[in-house]
Amino acid sequence: MTVTFIGHGYVGLVTAAVFADFGNTVYVIGHTKEKIENLKKGIIPIYEPGLEELVKKNVDSGRLIFTLDYKPAISESDIVFIAVGTPTTKTGDADLSAVLAVAEEIGRNLEGYTVVATKSTVPAGTNKKVKRILEETKPEGTEIDYASVPEFLREGSAISDTTNPDRVVIGAESQRARDLLVKLHEPIKAPVILTNFETAELIKYAANAFLALKISYANSIAKLSEALGADALKVLEGIGMDRRIGNMFLSPGPGYGGSCFPKDVKALISIAKDNDYPFSLLEEVENINGQSRRDIVRKARKTLSDLRGKKIGILGLAFKANTDDMRDAPAIDIINLLQNDGAKISAFDPKAMEIAAGVLKNVDYKKDAYQACDGADLVIVLTEWNEFRELDFEKIKSEMKTPNIIDGRNLYDPEEMKARGFTYIGVGR
Ligand code: UDX
Repeated sequence: MTVTFIGHGYVGLVTAAVFADFGNTVYVIGHTKEKIENLKKGIIPIYEPGLEELVKKNVDSGRLIFTLDYKPAISESDIVFIAVGTPTTKTGDADLSAVLAVAEEIGRNLEGYTVVATKSTVPAGTNKKVKRILEETKPEGTEIDYASVPEFLREGSAISDTTNPDRVVIGAESQRARDLLVKLHEPIKAPVILTNFETAELIKYAANAFLALKISYANSIAKLSEALGADALKVLEGIGMDRRIGNMFLSPGPGYGGSCFPKDVKALISIAKDNDYPFSLLEEVENINGQSRRDIVRKARKTLSDLRGKKIGILGLAFKANTDDMRDAPAIDIINLLQNDGAKISAFDPKAMEIAAGVLKNVDYKKDAYQACDGADLVIVLTEWNEFRELDFEKIKSEMKTPNIIDGRNLYDPEEMKARGFTYIGVGR
């Protein structure tokens, strides 16, 4: 098949590369010349394990084509995926301007029969707006079907999430569109849910909000465990063994961040409000997430009494491991609060420092974890990078001013850390 992706963010680029690897001809349309020129050379704008190799391989084979031009791509394609960003507006809604703008471009360049599918996470009802734009702009004699094919990939494991998902969701009105989309997804061995647009769109929001809810629940259990002297990790392991609950997404920490959960929870609250349903459960999920971030700062205040002039070393800035993404990273709020209290921050992250430097000012970015800890009154771990699991703590202890550690990701064994002479504070134990 010939397929086009509009947008080369995480979703667009990864899915395009995977479908090209399955043997399809895949166009990827962007609007920044420099980015498209780089992509043609295999230089990708994001860090994602395995993605650069996959992109290069498929560019070299001629199956993955990056372009600024809508015309040949759209007119040759059986399916066009809209995979542009939907950031949160000031009011908490999803900003649809990019989706609606590309819909117009697609409409103008259509030829023959085409399925136009949304991969961007958009509020229920958006597809109807896109469909109206396409109907208004499409040339005479062309035929389109509209579909919603939400994406569930996670950063850091995006390729395997795309090739081995738990399910494929296809929301389409016509059988012809459904058949084409089912055929495109055939190499993926996963159950397929065939449904209408609205259901497909809501599955995506409902899934992300539920996962965010699990994390806030784990963070609440962590708070309660600290008060009761229980070990939250054991409590959560204990409940996760119940197959009705499941053991994933129950790790307490500094709260969820990233480009999806914060935005999608907000958007679902806003969608519900627009439909006269106050989704108070999700409002509380958000509140607890904010508390989880502030709780790390509270622990820092408790450990050092007064943060003024104190040196705090931060290990990990990205919103999670294996990514350089800083979007809504807990580290941003936490470092801002620590700085407001007068703390001096040094930090190390294996991948995210360049991006972090654009967001977090007055931070002394260091070359490695040891340098970030050097002379510190307190070290706080905020991202669960594997390289932080195996640090030389003798060295760290000898270089810190006072051996205090707040392990925001529960990477270390509390007893071992105490035996090494650290004042250790985890999350929920
Ligand atoms: C998420 C969804 O998982 C994915 O299906 C969707 O397509 C996009 O959004 P992503 O944002 O890449 O993916 O990261 P994810 O691994 O889900 O983690 C999100 C946040 O939750 C991170 O900040 C992570 O640290 C946090 N998290 C996750 C926890 O705090 N505890 C957990 O148990 C799991």
